[in-house]
Amino acid sequence: MMDYTDRHCRYLLRLLAPGALLYTEMVTSAAIARGDVPRLLAFHPAEHPVALQLGGSDPRELALAARVGAGYGYDEINLNCGCPSDRVQSGRFGACLMGEPERVAACVRAMRAEVAVPVTVKCRIGIEPMPRQDLDEYGFLRDFVGTVAEAGCQIFIVHARSAILAGLSPKENREIPPLRYDLARRLRKDFPHLTFVLNGGIRTLEAVKEHLQDFAGVMLGREAYNNPYVLATLHRELFDPQWAPSRDAIVEQYAQYVRERLAEGHPLRAMVRHVHGLYAGMPRARAWRRFLSEGVTSPAANADLLLESLDIVRAA
Ligand SMILES: Cc1cc2nc3c(=O)[nH]c(=O)nc-3n(C[C@H](O)[C@H](O)[C@H](O)COP(=O)(O)O)c2cc1C
Repeated sequence: MMDYTDRHCRYLLRLLAPGALLYTEMVTSAAIARGDVPRLLAFHPAEHPVALQLGGSDPRELALAARVGAGYGYDEINLNCGCPSDRVQSGRFGACLMGEPERVAACVRAMRAEVAVPVTVKCRIGIEPMPRQDLDEYGFLRDFVGTVAEAGCQIFIVHARSAILAGLSPKENREIPPLRYDLARRLRKDFPHLTFVLNGGIRTLEAVKEHLQDFAGVMLGREAYNNPYVLATLHRELFDPQWAPSRDAIVEQYAQYVRERLAEGHPLRAMVRHVHGLYAGMPRARAWRRFLSEGVTSPAANADLLLESLDIVRAA
């Protein structure tokens, strides 16, 4: 998630969920071709397994970006075909690429030719206005998946909403178009040899368990950020009944990570912001967050701020 799942956020999430596959923010292939690559792509080895999500629509540039990403050790390269923002549309990538399945197929083919790790696609269930009048909503989605799968993409992460390409902000595009899990389920029946991961509006253990009956995996976006402890709960319930890290222990481990990154020049504020949701729903969570937000503004603040913050939640 752009501006959220940076390397620090992913490290924190990894402390909570040893098995989850984590995704970077979308990084454009143009930025990798021309930008500060170490700043864009470096990550901590503990983050594995971690997927690099690329944005772009030029097969050659995406192939280069995929190769660079695989060289950094990413475990999967994912192509964004779901972002509806105007900025992304003006670059002709993100969700509007669903209107050009042949181009997406060419991108996937070019990327696959460069890397050994899986090349996957994240898409919506459709786009509006619909570029094909000859197909119904599901037919459009089925054709998109079929064309891209022929290029060798075997894993699709489906955000089960259409993207409305004009008139809605990205935020509205995550809330207003209705969730249609049924369309994603139909893909499973039509493409039994492919892997589908469901995304969109999934927040609870119950919902995860329900969707795992139909899908190979689920992807959590906002809930994983706003209430990251849900990932520890999921890991316990799905993989390891012994897994019960305390929130305080997570803060202590993250403080150690923050100390090391501060020594490398990473700013404290950029790391502390990601823990804000850790005590969501717990007593004193708000006072704890306030202590952190105010604390990071002090020029003398360091990783001890996180350790000191524990007095507030322990007092509860
Ligand atoms: C702030 C923010 C940034 C996002 N950035 C990306 C992104 O870079 N790439 C992407 O595929 N999806 C992005 N998304 C969409 C989420 O990955 C996800 O598809 C969407 O929020 C629906 O899932 P959820 O209901 O679990 O949050 C972003 C969402 C938010 C809230």
